[in-house]
Amino acid sequence: MGNKKVTPFPQGFLWGGALAANQVEGGWNKGGKGLSVQDVQAYKPHVDQKNLAAHVKVSLPQLLEAAKETDDTYFPKRRGVDFYHRYPQDLALFAEMGFQVLRVSISWPRLYPTGMETQPNPEGIAFYHRLFQEMRKRGIKPLITLAHYEMPLALALEWNGWTDRRVIDLFVRFCETCYKEYGQYTDLWLSFNEIDSCIRHPFTTAGIIPELCGEEGELGACYQALHHQFVAAAMVTKMLREMVPGAKMGCMLTKLTTYPRTCAPDDMIATQARELENLSYADIMVFGEYPRLILRRIEKKGITIRMEPEDEGILREGTVDYVSFSYYMSMTESVDPNAERTPGNTVLGVKNPYLESSEWGWQVDPVGLRYSLVELYDRYKKPLFIVENGLGARDTLEADGSIHDPYRIEYFRRHFEEMAKAIDDGVELIGFTSWGPIDIISASSNQMSKRYGFIYVDQDDLGKGSLERYRKDSFYWYKKVIETNGADLD
Ligand code: BG6
Repeated sequence: MGNKKVTPFPQGFLWGGALAANQVEGGWNKGGKGLSVQDVQAYKPHVDQKNLAAHVKVSLPQLLEAAKETDDTYFPKRRGVDFYHRYPQDLALFAEMGFQVLRVSISWPRLYPTGMETQPNPEGIAFYHRLFQEMRKRGIKPLITLAHYEMPLALALEWNGWTDRRVIDLFVRFCETCYKEYGQYTDLWLSFNEIDSCIRHPFTTAGIIPELCGEEGELGACYQALHHQFVAAAMVTKMLREMVPGAKMGCMLTKLTTYPRTCAPDDMIATQARELENLSYADIMVFGEYPRLILRRIEKKGITIRMEPEDEGILREGTVDYVSFSYYMSMTESVDPNAERTPGNTVLGVKNPYLESSEWGWQVDPVGLRYSLVELYDRYKKPLFIVENGLGARDTLEADGSIHDPYRIEYFRRHFEEMAKAIDDGVELIGFTSWGPIDIISASSNQMSKRYGFIYVDQDDLGKGSLERYRKDSFYWYKKVIETNGADLD
């Protein structure tokens, strides 16, 4: 008894995992679902998997062609890992690990196939009732993301996605349906996943197609679309409070913590610019207004965002209750044009000599998580929720069905230790959901072989495999972490 470890995590801390409908469900043409922007995202085996630009590039002819395709071999997000049919089994495995919370997203085109219908698709509605009822049975609370990179394709093709203000009303209608139907299952909600990502992958985040952007150009279209998303997010935040009393809405930021490569003042200025840009997205949703410095930066790019007179009030009235974020890696910045660069989460940063990188070049930095937690809490003074974190790696399924992934255990252990330090620093951290607790399709590369899970799924990049699920070594380790509320990280 004497050496029983004491947990640094508060009582009621929520442990679990996070998924996105488009990466996990499959069933792309089942139950009346419409095509989403993800269903036309092709897996490209011969492009450099570290070259983000090659992955996010879309063109109108190619999208129209993809929309006609009925085979899913090269469109992995159409098949996901068949969560659409296998969710009871998967939830049983999550429950076995002791999950208290599971972050899932609701596919907009499953409820509104083109986004423009006035009534939701009953089969889509019924699917999420089944899912949430099963979660309830297992004692797992849903944390629901309303928009995780999956707008109806029709809205992209016909209106150039979120650049068109009319999309706000359609999204509000979708959210109203979600609250009415599923408000009974949870009090935890998120509006837009990584709202900042619009600039990095305009098509999957906001349905923006280069050929459909007018004089404002693609970057101008991105800022316009972002503005519409901020307004929509504020509207549905206010609506959540009215329709689901006691429910809480969070914002969701890709936390791209950046250090100066050297202490040269110019490196510091370049780093500060990156940091402020990254934080500005959460600033708008927490403080209810655009930071002046960011407005100036947009203006200097020659971009004018069209805003309606009522927008200011809408943003002010729809601020969030908590701040959530994804954290995988950190970057450094330098003004030296020859500084060696390395990919991160849909970004390219300067290489940090003190850090090791994953196979995909992402720089693993647990201490950066503590830094980020302290920075975010000090800035916003709102409860924080880490809703994505994890290591994408190649795993080997052994002949006896075991998977030995000490690298993943090590990654999480080191991040949990830093979370504990941040809590000790005084940060109010309310939960942690690991990214992809079961192997899923990669958002950026459409690969299956980039695996994050505690549970292995037998499927390769081209969809071959039994789809059987296997427990990895990390499965048992995470189970113990949850059981002891983070006291036992050995
Ligand atoms: C986050 C996204 O940015 O990173 C997820 O919200 C994504 O959808 C995750 O899957 C990991 O990225 P990737 O490209 O390795 O799947």
